[in-house]
Amino acid sequence: MAALRILASLLVGLCAYYFYSQETFSEETVRGKRVLVTGSSTGIGEQIAYEYARMGAHVMVTARREKRLQEVVQKCLQLGASSAWYITADMHNLTSATRVIEETENKLGGLDYLVLNHVGGSIHFGPFEGDMEAVISSMTVNFLSYVQLTVSAMKMLQESHGGIIVISSLAGRIPSPFSVPYAATKFALEGFYSSLRTELRLRKIHLDVTVAVLGYIDTDTAVKAIADKVTMTASPKADCAREIVKGGVLRQREVVYPYWTLKPVLLFKDWVPGLLESVVGNFYKLENIL
Ligand SMILES: NC(=O)c1ccc[n+]([C@@H]2O[C@H](COP(=O)([O-])OP(=O)(O)OC[C@H]3O[C@@H](n4cnc5c(N)ncnc54)[C@H](OP(=O)(O)O)[C@@H]3O)[C@@H](O)[C@H]2O)c1
Ligand SMILES: *[C@@H]1O[C@H](CO)[C@@H](O)[C@H](O)[C@H]1NC(C)=O
Repeated sequence: MAALRILASLLVGLCAYYFYSQETFSEETVRGKRVLVTGSSTGIGEQIAYEYARMGAHVMVTARREKRLQEVVQKCLQLGASSAWYITADMHNLTSATRVIEETENKLGGLDYLVLNHVGGSIHFGPFEGDMEAVISSMTVNFLSYVQLTVSAMKMLQESHGGIIVISSLAGRIPSPFSVPYAATKFALEGFYSSLRTELRLRKIHLDVTVAVLGYIDTDTAVKAIADKVTMTASPKADCAREIVKGGVLRQREVVYPYWTLKPVLLFKDWVPGLLESVVGNFYKLENIL
């Protein structure tokens, strides 16, 4: 009986969350907002930049490849951005992370949304065989630089009552074999930003933190790395970007995408971890990995 009641309330909660997450917003509220999107030369970050541009925001993009960033800036302007800028930076270097924020302040005069999305370091899909360099460089690029960007942008974000949007992954919530260092960086992000969110609230600092928990998305990098190694199908990056931007504007604490694929997995995690582990096993084509 108790189990049934728990199940029923879980279902109600799920439906409530679903309808809440279907909430719409006026795109007009994004016009003129100042946004920095990291890792925006390709993939989901590029699509997020276009989404803000389409709604008339001021957009700053950053990554290492200058030529790609110039193209992204051009497209942002075509889509209707109030202004669009880029700065090249390598997030291995925390001084560069600080410089990105300084340049954002120079060009945009403030910041309303900080979208932390880049991913790099040594992203290798395969067995973990003790490569410490991979752990250290993943932690630097995918975790420490996020923290540095946040610290440097904090004053501007507090002034604007802004929002931080952190791109995480299912790999930041459940065990993820064959991407052990990467998963560790995403778990670290989840710990840091969920704790920070609660602390800011208790300190009555108006700054919202949205964490996006993503499944497999059809970016070139992801498809190239894992298409023949997993049984999952990829979801479209433009749709993914739209959900992330919407969740940030609505100040949701979480965006789960694709929702109905990921949410049951997240619920099972604490409830039946053994079952989850065997389900996770079925995601991988071991014959193509080992
Ligand atoms: N695609 C998926 O299936 C998936 C699933 C779950 C979560 N995610 C998350 O979604 C986010 C975006 O992933 P994506 O698939 O769009 O990746 P992506 O297409 O490879 O984009 C990664 C971006 O990060 C930049 N970057 C890489 N190393 C960098 C460095 N050292 N310094 C500065 N910028 C660097 C890249 O640009 P440059 O090379 O020009 O520097 C690029 O713009 C990541 O946080 C990822 O963990 C993706
Ligand atoms: C890190 O970036 C700063 C500023 O962009 C630069 O002066 C410094 O030489 C860089 N450090 C390394 C190790 O590349």
